[in-house]
This record gives sequence, C-alpha cells and structure tokens, in this order.
Amino acid sequence: MRFDLITLHPAICEAPASVSILGRARAAGLIDVRVHDLRQWAGGARRQADDAPYGGGSGMVLKVDVVDRAIQAVRTPGCRTVLLDPAAPRFRQADAVRLSTISQLVLICGHYEGVDARVRDHLVDESLSIGDYVLTGGELAALVVLDAVARLVPGVLGNAGSLDEESFTAREGEHLRLEAPQYTRPRSYQGWEVPEVLLSGHHQQVREWRAARSLELTRRLRPDLLGDDPD
Ligand code: ADE
Repeated sequence: MRFDLITLHPAICEAPASVSILGRARAAGLIDVRVHDLRQWAGGARRQADDAPYGGGSGMVLKVDVVDRAIQAVRTPGCRTVLLDPAAPRFRQADAVRLSTISQLVLICGHYEGVDARVRDHLVDESLSIGDYVLTGGELAALVVLDAVARLVPGVLGNAGSLDEESFTAREGEHLRLEAPQYTRPRSYQGWEVPEVLLSGHHQQVREWRAARSLELTRRLRPDLLGDDPD
C-alpha cells in the first residue's frame, strides 16, 4: 500500500515513518511512504503555498490551486484523498480498517490557520480529525492515520495473531472492548504481584480472566464503547 503525505513541513513526517515497525515495513516493501513538500507545486519566485484570507482576518490559508496540483501529481488509480482537519468527523479504528484495503492513501496536512474551503468541498474524498483539540498543523494527525492504517496492512505486524485481541478491534457481532492488562517478569516487584491466574498455565481460565477484565475495564473507562453512554 502506498501513502503520500503532502505537507509544508516534510521534516516532521520523515522520522516517524522511518523507524520501528513502519521503517521495517518500508524496507521490506510492504508499504511505500512518500513525503512531498507542498511548495514544489507553488508558483512564483517565493513558492508561496498560502495566502491571506478573503474577507480579512489573521493568519494564512492554504491555496486551493496549489493543493490541486499536488493531488493531481501524486494520485494513482484507486487512490483516496484525505484532508486532516480539526473540524471534521473523528478518525476511528473502523476508518483505519476501511482505509487499509485501498491501494493509495493521500494525506493532506492542513495549515494550522486554515485551508481554502474548496479543498474540502471539491478536491478531497473525505476529511478526518484525530480528536477534539487543535494541533499546530495536520502533520501529526496525518502520521496518526498513517500509523493506524499501515499496521493493518498484511505483513506489517509480524505477529498477525496480536491484531485479533487488541483494544478497539471490532469483532463481528460484538461491541468494542479495551484490552485486558498484560504483565511480564518479574513476578513480584515492590510487593506488586502478577495475578495468579496468569501463572497457572490454564489457558481456558486465562481466556476467561482476560475477557472479564476487558469488560470491566471498558465499563469503567470507556462505557461509550459498550453503547451505555453514547458520545
Ligand atoms: N489539524 C490540527 N488539529 C487537527 C486535529 N485534531 N485533527 C486533524 N487535523 C488537525
């Protein structure tokens, strides 16, 4: 799967997509991540990709013509274009699952002060927010989406089994649940003990304990996931 990030700040995007799981997946050819400087599609000697807003006001707004040229230059058949925007529906695991099945995802990093509304209205397939807070730009949001989608691409996580049990993964016919707590050695630390059942070797009991803890945690911390407290 190919990811194209279009940004005014390529340096923010390079490192997170170059190390650890994403870095290995790139090296193995499982994902192709391309970071593009939006200014290369801006005209004039100053290569200006933003301009003052019509109607006045402070700040600069990303230009629709520059973003259009960028999208046309990088898109391939079957691609989906997404604008990162705090004023958009919230990105969820279900979106990551949906986006992980396409061949190319183009992520457009918005400017903290704004993007010409015609980008959202005419150029992109959808807009996504990663949460109810405002970042200085869309780069960190684009990386969150990239990371959440890329790890679902077959082969990116070496251990495919770990996908089934984790938090936020929908299982058919079930509500989403938070993952049960995990422990590793030492068995006792500062008097803090690992739950006995995990040391028992009884796989069925471990499964039941995890299911019960998962439900209890979800009820306590995220009742909205069980439909008890819809947000
Ligand atoms: N740009 C600035 N804040 C953002 C957010 N919360 N989600 C997506 N893009 C953003």
